[in-house]
Amino acid sequence: MNLEYHLLETTPEQLPERLKQLRHAGFAGLNLTRPLKSAVLLLLEDLTPLASRAGSVNLLVPDSAAGAAPAAMARVFSSLLRVRGLEPTRVRLLGAGGAARAVAHALRARWPQVELELSARNPRAARELAQSLRTRRVPCVARSAARTALDLLVNATPVGMAGGGCAGSALSLAGLRDVRCVHELVSVPWNTPLIKAARKAGCTVIGGVEMLVAQAAPAFSLWTGSDFPLAALTRLARLRVALAGKLARPVVLVGLMGSGKSTLAPLLGSALGLEWLDTDTVLEQRLGAPIAELFTRLGEARFREEERRAFVECLHPDGPAIIATGGGLAAQPGFLGEFAARAYFAHLHGEPELLWQRAGLQPLSRRPLLAAGGFAALDALYGQRLPHYLDAEFQLELRAGEAVPETMDRLLDVLETPLLESVC
Ligand code: S3P
Repeated sequence: MNLEYHLLETTPEQLPERLKQLRHAGFAGLNLTRPLKSAVLLLLEDLTPLASRAGSVNLLVPDSAAGAAPAAMARVFSSLLRVRGLEPTRVRLLGAGGAARAVAHALRARWPQVELELSARNPRAARELAQSLRTRRVPCVARSAARTALDLLVNATPVGMAGGGCAGSALSLAGLRDVRCVHELVSVPWNTPLIKAARKAGCTVIGGVEMLVAQAAPAFSLWTGSDFPLAALTRLARLRVALAGKLARPVVLVGLMGSGKSTLAPLLGSALGLEWLDTDTVLEQRLGAPIAELFTRLGEARFREEERRAFVECLHPDGPAIIATGGGLAAQPGFLGEFAARAYFAHLHGEPELLWQRAGLQPLSRRPLLAAGGFAALDALYGQRLPHYLDAEFQLELRAGEAVPETMDRLLDVLETPLLESVC
């Protein structure tokens, strides 16, 4: 699939011209965010009923005439609740902007009997939203709303966005014990004060990142006709938002030759938006010769010193976040203990037969230790080194015949929690 998705900074004033340009360029689709979700309404000729009731549009699909506009957010909102088996009867909605409108109308459309309370800083906006729902009266609750048991609390305000706290807002963190599910729409940071408090209080939590990525699913399917890998991309988005391009300690992949360190490091780096390096490549560049030649020319003892030096340099605060290592580095006695506090070491473990098969995918001449001794050499190294590799904090068992993306996914299963916890 050959598609690109670009961020186009656009003010409401620039929007008519932007839409014209995009139509002219034959765009496949468009997402809109605040404050364009309402501003676009006047520019569209063909709105879905839900979008026109909600007065908010965040997804456009071009058609021959103008633009069609299903309200993706509203649909996604209902489906995220349904996936968790939630049939809300009593809901408090914080906010009265575009997102709140989409949520309120989605709730009304899917659960007409729902008791909805609106809580917003701007009482006029709340009243207008209540009127637009055109059903029985929707109470607009005060900021310090009474503590009532709720099935669902939705934060559709920007409160909690990057750096912002909750003090003085309509969002009271107290009383969450009486709330079954908290749905946060703020996606940066991924772990807002509301999400943290809701987890502590034992509520079911639907995060803003989840909502954000889930909205991409119908858009992606509408624009491309293909399915969207929702679970995998939600996890990646959460990690990317949380890590924001840096880690407290680098992730270091260790293991015997053929375990896939140099294959997985760049994939992990690009999936998480992090820099990566391979210590073998650092050595080759610094000393100006391929590894096999260096190994023979320097002798093993000098080679080990040089690769250790290259690794220590990589630990510099501006160094790469993901490091693939040569197989011998972490197998040196005491190495993993010495550096355990400065990196997350992940050992990629495979049985010698599997590693031999995989190592054979490249010319053996690139690996001097195998070129000379073949499988017997690999088998012997396995026996000597395994006890050292097992000191690594994280262990991943390689599986015969597994495709690289699946191995990557399982590596993320292992790393996800510690990485998220490291930035909490
Ligand atoms: C070695 C592994 C190689 C390379 C050198 C020595 C080893 O790296 O550093 O040939 O002692 O296991 P890979 O593990 O990337 O093949």
